[in-house]
Amino acid sequence: MARVYLPFVFLGVVPVLLLGLAAAGVEPDHGYHVPVAPPPYCGPVPGSDADLIHVAMNLEFLEAEFFLYGAFGKGLDSIAPYLAKGGPPPVGGQKAELDHLVWSIIAEFAYEEVGHVRAIYERVGGIPRPLLNISKESFADVFDVALGHKLVPPFDPYASSIHYLLASYLLPYVGLTGYVGAIPHLSNYTTKDLVGRLLGVESGQDAVIRTLLYERAFDKVEPYGVTVAELTNKLSWVRNELGKCGLKDKGVIVPKELGPEGKLETEVLSSGKNELAYSRTPQEIFRIVYGSGNEHVPGGFYPHGGNGRIARSFLYHP
Ligand SMILES: *[C@@H]1O[C@H](CO)[C@@H](O)[C@H](O)[C@H]1NC(C)=O
Ligand SMILES: *[C@@H]1O[C@H](CO)[C@@H](O)[C@H](O)[C@H]1NC(C)=O
Repeated sequence: MARVYLPFVFLGVVPVLLLGLAAAGVEPDHGYHVPVAPPPYCGPVPGSDADLIHVAMNLEFLEAEFFLYGAFGKGLDSIAPYLAKGGPPPVGGQKAELDHLVWSIIAEFAYEEVGHVRAIYERVGGIPRPLLNISKESFADVFDVALGHKLVPPFDPYASSIHYLLASYLLPYVGLTGYVGAIPHLSNYTTKDLVGRLLGVESGQDAVIRTLLYERAFDKVEPYGVTVAELTNKLSWVRNELGKCGLKDKGVIVPKELGPEGKLETEVLSSGKNELAYSRTPQEIFRIVYGSGNEHVPGGFYPHGGNGRIARSFLYHP
């Protein structure tokens, strides 16, 4: 069990260590000023309601394509091509090897995501679908980082139900935290109503994925020899590290002090102080889904970055 907890230890120690060094004035003395990167910004970014919701629309496109391909072997263009607003089709999606239960859940999620994209399109206007990399290699990259070495064979999200659920663990939760972060900054009834409804379903999807993983928490993910619980913690750790704004993400089994009211090790739902949902800013969201830890540097699931005014402004002004 100790290994499951490791990510949280790192998380606490690394920033403290860095802060400690800076406070102690430990800096190389070359006789000239070494530029020190500013601390990552964790505050709000200005934007209209539509701008803020478009941040999340990037994630809704990703989820729609991943779930549609996983369940049906084809994406949004086979159902409602107009919603892509001329954006390129995703690369690397494929039908997953799913058992009946998981297939029926993912098929439902897929249609829910189509609805979410349409709801945003109709209420605030859409954005062109960004180029999405949902290839197995793209997911394998994240799992390599999580486990700290190159997996052999590479992780394949489409290979089985458990693989697909672990890959899905990466998606709705990011959207959920983004919606929670957006709501306080929305100015009008129409958009708050929309985001509340999106958030409700998004968190439901995350809860279902986490429950299915919790059910298998102590199963080993073969051939890697790590348990499902361990992997969820490591994937959450990657997101916390990339987001650069603290602990906002927990796996399904955690040290008791991080569990519900400090009383249990179960964390079927990821929640923080007073068991409230965590929230993330647009820059944290892009740092995570680009896999770069930097909202100015696209990559990961978004080789060319996200769309909408906020994503593009990060890309044009590094
Ligand atoms: C609220 O936002 C919607 C969608 O952007 C817009 O159509 C509507 O005019 C806005 N209402 C107010 C009162 O600003
Ligand atoms: C998708 O991601 C994989 C893994 O990082 C990479 O090798 C491939 O070139 C990417 N495809 C595109 C179109 O960016």
